[in-house]
Amino acid sequence: MNIGVIGTGYVGLVAGSCFAESGNDVVCVDSNAEKVEQLKKGIIPIYEPGLPELVERNLREERLSFTTDLDAAVKKAFIIFIAVGTPTASDGSADLTTIHEVAAAIGRAMDRYKVIVVKSTVPAGTSSRLREIIKNETKHPFDLLSNPEFLKQGAAVDDFMKPDRIVVGWTPLSSQCVM
Ligand SMILES: NC(=O)c1ccc[n+]([C@@H]2O[C@H](COP(=O)([O-])OP(=O)(O)OC[C@H]3O[C@@H](n4cnc5c(N)ncnc54)[C@H](O)[C@@H]3O)[C@@H](O)[C@H]2O)c1
Repeated sequence: MNIGVIGTGYVGLVAGSCFAESGNDVVCVDSNAEKVEQLKKGIIPIYEPGLPELVERNLREERLSFTTDLDAAVKKAFIIFIAVGTPTASDGSADLTTIHEVAAAIGRAMDRYKVIVVKSTVPAGTSSRLREIIKNETKHPFDLLSNPEFLKQGAAVDDFMKPDRIVVGWTPLSSQCVM
């Protein structure tokens, strides 16, 4: 399956590498061009047991690639995971600026039906807002799912590959469903 992962931080890099290890074709997108150049060479900005080997093997076997080109990655992927940061704002709420921007960019790039999955940690109600943002940018159908990440730093690859639970949420409001 063709998978896109937007945001190649802790969560996105582990998820993308593990999806590739499971046999999927994965394009990981990040807006940080310097980070993308390093990742293309297999240089990983975080310490996580098992991750360098996963990245190296899947880069070599061409199931994993890194890019700054969100548009091309969205067009290629059937499923797009959003894994950008949602930092705490000064008033204690989650700053959703980046995830809103990414949702709009995905909407603009869509050229056919897509499954869009939110992995970032977001407050209740975010999916409704993201659905509206995407709808405003595209006429193509899509489903929006929530799949929050629970990995622990230091055991992230193991947690991702052998999770004790997987939580997936979906509201049947969208115009097409293939799940
Ligand atoms: N780190 C954890 O242990 C952990 C665990 C569970 C959940 N989460 C949640 O997962 C989400 C991601 O966390 P993280 O630690 O991976 O964040 P991170 O800050 O390490 O990574 C986010 C990445 O997104 C990139 N980015 C920012 N704007 C972008 C854009 N417009 N397009 C493409 N890429 C962009 C950044 O350059 C960065 O590489 C957050 O919501 C976080 O709360 C994190």
